[in-house]
Amino acid sequence: MKLNEAHVRYSAEEYDRYTAKFVRPFDEALADRVIEEVEKRPGASRLVDVGAGTARLLLYLATLPRLDQLTFIGTDLFEDMVQQGRKAIADVNLANRVRMVTTDVHAMELPDECADIIISRSTLHHWSDPVRALREIDRLLKPGGVAIIHDVRRDPSPEALAEFNRLRAMAGIGPAFLDEKFTTGEVRDLLDRAGLGTRALLGAPTEGLWALGMEVEIHKPVRDVLSSSAM
Ligand SMILES: C[S@@+](CC[C@H](N)C(=O)[O-])C[C@H]1O[C@@H](n2cnc3c(N)ncnc32)[C@H](O)[C@@H]1O
Repeated sequence: MKLNEAHVRYSAEEYDRYTAKFVRPFDEALADRVIEEVEKRPGASRLVDVGAGTARLLLYLATLPRLDQLTFIGTDLFEDMVQQGRKAIADVNLANRVRMVTTDVHAMELPDECADIIISRSTLHHWSDPVRALREIDRLLKPGGVAIIHDVRRDPSPEALAEFNRLRAMAGIGPAFLDEKFTTGEVRDLLDRAGLGTRALLGAPTEGLWALGMEVEIHKPVRDVLSSSAM
């Protein structure tokens, strides 16, 4: 995939306007999932959003009292997205908790095991080498951490797709392109090829908002102290 094909089809400003307002129901639903995972990990301190666009989802998460304990890193390949994100972060004085890094999901300039929770939304279909990208995401997870990856699927429920396209139209954004998206079977195959099949869960609801897409959970096991110590 060429670089310009990985970019969203809109300018960073247009994309920012769309995600700042029109995808709030999806932000809320994903926030509920993040809260669930944070509550299972009382010591969790850092969330990384891979392909964070202009940081609007992160800024929403950062306002939630139940996520007060977290700091946030957003990554994106494109400098225009990152700059627009930094502007949005500065506008609400959240630079002390949210930062953006320009880096490619296929070779992220972030250290091993730096994240308790990773999220990545509407990104999988943009990646030129999803197997490599999934391995990179796993590299960033701390032992005991979880990655939650959401994407639209090629065969969404017609009702969920109609609602999604209605929100896009309100923002002046054209309908979603389904041809470029994956089916759950294809994503299962990618996870297996990444060596993550046995640690990943894949869900594709048939009703409600989530019937638009799928959720992948990748779990990084906690290290077995006994087997890793010299005995
Ligand atoms: C559809 S947008 C989703 C943005 C954000 N996650 C959201 O839910 O609003 C896809 C994002 O992935 C980014 N992206 C595409 N290829 C990438 C890559 N190789 N590495 C990191 N980010 C990438 C794009 O620049 C864009 O911001």
